[in-house]
Amino acid sequence: LDKKVKQNNWEEGNFINYKKMSENLAVVRSRLNRPLTFAEKILYSHLDDPHGQDIQRGVSYLKLRPDRVACQDATAQMAILQFMSAGMPQVANPTTVHCDHLIEAQIGGEKDLERAVSINKEVYDFLSSACAKYNIGFWRPGSGIIHQILLENYAFPGGLLIGTDSHTPNAGGLGMCAIGVGGADAVDVMANLSWELKAPKFIGVKLTGQMSGWTAPKDIILKVAGILTVKGGTGAIVEYHGPGVDSISATGMGTICNMGAEIGATTSLFPFNDRMYEYLAATKRTAIGDYARDYAKELRQDEGAEYDQLIEINLSELEPHINGPFTPDLATPISKFSQAVKDNNWPEDLKVGLIGSCTNSSYEDMNRAASIARDALDHGIKAKAAFVVTPGSEQIRATIARDGQLQTFEEFGGVVLANACGPCIGQWDRKDVKKGTPNSILSSYNRNFTGRNDGNPATHSFVTSPDLVVALSIAGSLHFNPLTDKLKDKDGNEFMLAAPGGESLPSRGYDPGNDTYQAPPADRAAVTVQVAPTSDRLQVLQPFQPWDGKDALDMPILIKAQGKTTTDHISMAGPWLKYRGHLDNISNNMLIGAINEANGEANKIRNFTTDEWDAVPAVARDYKAKGIKWVVIGDWNYGEGSSREHAALEPRHLGGLAIITRSFARIHETNLKKQGMLPLTFADPADYDKIKPEDKVDLLCTELAVGKPMTLRVHPKDGETFDIKLNHTFNEPQIEWFKNGSALNTMAKKNA
Ligand code: F3S
Repeated sequence: LDKKVKQNNWEEGNFINYKKMSENLAVVRSRLNRPLTFAEKILYSHLDDPHGQDIQRGVSYLKLRPDRVACQDATAQMAILQFMSAGMPQVANPTTVHCDHLIEAQIGGEKDLERAVSINKEVYDFLSSACAKYNIGFWRPGSGIIHQILLENYAFPGGLLIGTDSHTPNAGGLGMCAIGVGGADAVDVMANLSWELKAPKFIGVKLTGQMSGWTAPKDIILKVAGILTVKGGTGAIVEYHGPGVDSISATGMGTICNMGAEIGATTSLFPFNDRMYEYLAATKRTAIGDYARDYAKELRQDEGAEYDQLIEINLSELEPHINGPFTPDLATPISKFSQAVKDNNWPEDLKVGLIGSCTNSSYEDMNRAASIARDALDHGIKAKAAFVVTPGSEQIRATIARDGQLQTFEEFGGVVLANACGPCIGQWDRKDVKKGTPNSILSSYNRNFTGRNDGNPATHSFVTSPDLVVALSIAGSLHFNPLTDKLKDKDGNEFMLAAPGGESLPSRGYDPGNDTYQAPPADRAAVTVQVAPTSDRLQVLQPFQPWDGKDALDMPILIKAQGKTTTDHISMAGPWLKYRGHLDNISNNMLIGAINEANGEANKIRNFTTDEWDAVPAVARDYKAKGIKWVVIGDWNYGEGSSREHAALEPRHLGGLAIITRSFARIHETNLKKQGMLPLTFADPADYDKIKPEDKVDLLCTELAVGKPMTLRVHPKDGETFDIKLNHTFNEPQIEWFKNGSALNTMAKKNA
């Protein structure tokens, strides 16, 4: 194992260290003395202290040393602003930044890209100059979507990566343990602090049988999401294994891992196999593939490894699925979908079909989709629905342009957008349907929360494989099942679409397309980071105030949020993405999507000092100006969705002290702690119902100690004061964050 194999083809000094990993693993093995899952092996071989680390699934906090960090442009702004305030000359661990989230889809690829480059100039200038300054690889706008670029260039079997985006697990398609985190975690690793993760549990998914026909890798995760629901993976790593794995391409495995984010899983991954080797070879990384073969024994689970939960799926029986609307875990097999559309009164016409995104942009996806489109064209028909393609990377775009799939999509009536997130993150200037009009869209994306794609809460967004997107786009109807239903050709004769097909890797190799990478210069001292003091998009960060050491008394409840409160509800995307680097400006979107229990409405709450109804951010600002701290009450799985730390920074910036919920999504909970907030949960979830929006509360902060509950004293508007027990998951170092005002303050204190 003593070899020098580079992590990737872009960086000189960064190597894969299987030798060190195997040594660490040997230490942990001798301590635990039991068979390990694959993900356990990766985590434990990246421990900061393999000898001393306490290891209990679901209990300990692992201190880890990731191999890499990756940030997308929306989250990178705040991460880098935070890194800058720690005062270091360059990042301590290999890091890349990817420009993909800020490109709005209007008319098509090149024009949209040009416009984005001019609209976002100051952000791109900031990022490119900061990357050059701090030794970070910079992928310019147009290069593609972060997760696709990572899979194509940076992911390697057995590696540990953190990325400031929830779909970072996509790299699990190459056997990497890739975890989505908040910007604050990324900053820790950039600054060479160890990175902390609550030791996960492990869900095994055993795949047997073989996929065929219309069933695609996407259907595996659509099925798993249906079984586990959006909460089922919380605190767990999903590990696929079994004989069925070999029938899935590496990029198909990437798709499955990518969408594992939708069940709340910490990450998902597949064991190293020949399909991964083939993909590494096709992306010019044969040396990595060979090195992985040397270390292959540790790149899969041990015989007899125990999972906390085990699911078995027979791929030979797996039907294509469509999930949605409004939630990714409402899984319906295609054979029952038409009936479900009728039963639920979902709008039956398909308005738009969208393929691509970070989830489904591989050569295989494009090839199969194009084979269906070609079949339709050969019968003289095109897409009835509008059809939109977002290539995942410049390499994919260039390759399918060369090999003809792109032309097929255009002939089919498709619009090819820029290599970026576009409609997936609400960067879509949709014109065909008025806001408020119920309509259905179908995408090969991963996430379909209300309003996410086009900002229209009445849009019924469904997710499925690219294959079904194309097939249903041809019919223009949600009632169409390509496995059983016939279409009419241009002469009115009936025909059935052939099942999709095509090779999973390009036989002529990938075409890299335009050069979109900016390597950091050798001489970085001369580089100046560009932030204009007058900017409304970028703001240099001011440290938060430390805790005053007292209990907080008589605080109002800013809002008692009812039902789903995702990070989209807490800090909406779409047009707000523009202010990601400007905390004060973006705070004007704080919780504007959350539903107030008092009136069932969004963004309308009572200001108890004036007795007037106002927008959530306005009331919070008013309280802050008056020196009044406040809390938020939330429901189950509060903060599910994305890693955006703005959802934690904003309440902190506007004077919040605690978020008290029935439960949290993992990343959001950690983000709140990093920013010096108190994420707390009801010891008895039924207590949620005892608190009313107009009540006042005391929070006994002085009680905060590891493993001990805290008291919330509730003063109802009319009625007797009563106490409620709250739980928390703070450990010692995290309690320091709260005391110092934030994790960053704690870091700055250490560096001082
Ligand atoms: Fe982008 Fe959507 Fe993926 S926002 S990173 S394409 S989930």
